[in-house]
Amino acid sequence: MTSEASDLSYIIHHTRAMRRLKSDPVPEEVLMQLIDAANQGPTGSNKQNASWIIVRDPEQIQKLGELNRIAVDGYIDSPESSAPERSGIVRAVKWQRDHFNEIPALMIPCLSLDSPPVESWRAGAGAGGSIWPAVQNLLLTARALGLGAALTTMGLSDRPAAKAILGLPESVEPFAIIPVGYPTGKFGPLSRQPLEKVVHFDRW
Ligand SMILES: Cc1cc2nc3c(=O)[nH]c(=O)nc-3n(C[C@H](O)[C@H](O)[C@H](O)COP(=O)(O)O)c2cc1C
Repeated sequence: MTSEASDLSYIIHHTRAMRRLKSDPVPEEVLMQLIDAANQGPTGSNKQNASWIIVRDPEQIQKLGELNRIAVDGYIDSPESSAPERSGIVRAVKWQRDHFNEIPALMIPCLSLDSPPVESWRAGAGAGGSIWPAVQNLLLTARALGLGAALTTMGLSDRPAAKAILGLPESVEPFAIIPVGYPTGKFGPLSRQPLEKVVHFDRW
């Protein structure tokens, strides 16, 4: 890790959704390092109810890629994707769709829920709130290690099908599919709204 890449602020400002990945395998100890970082994330009431599936089996990747393809095709046909400012994202999303089978590893963040899954994960803060900090830990650590990763959810649009592929019990919900691998291109800086547009003091 270079001193620049080990600087937390630098990493936070350069952790992009990296969809174009090489097919080179990622060593298992590196994948475990990512999950170790994710596993340090906070959970509501410290329930520590997050778990992770590392998917490397080509057949499993192919099945999840098919779910992703169906959802991406629907997205590409939607008005949301046709905005000119999204053209770069759409090109990268199509690349990922078309090269999904070459992704070396998918990381699937899951939560064990004690109330009926649908109600619980729709509650957002109560359910997803215990997985998203872990996901960001994983993304930042991947960036720090020079790995590309992207938070995706489209492949879970058909949730029962995704759960069946992953063999998840009824009470365990997947929240994302995060392809991980070595990037084909360079990491650039993020482009976000300026602070004056997003900060309010004392009231809206
Ligand atoms: C809740 C959520 C769901 C997302 N789902 C997808 C997805 O299904 N496919 C995808 O390629 N990117 C997905 N993304 C990534 C966003 O498109 C990406 O973070 C955004 O375009 C900003 O890109 P940047 O971080 O590289 O600047 C998702 C991000 C979030 C936060």
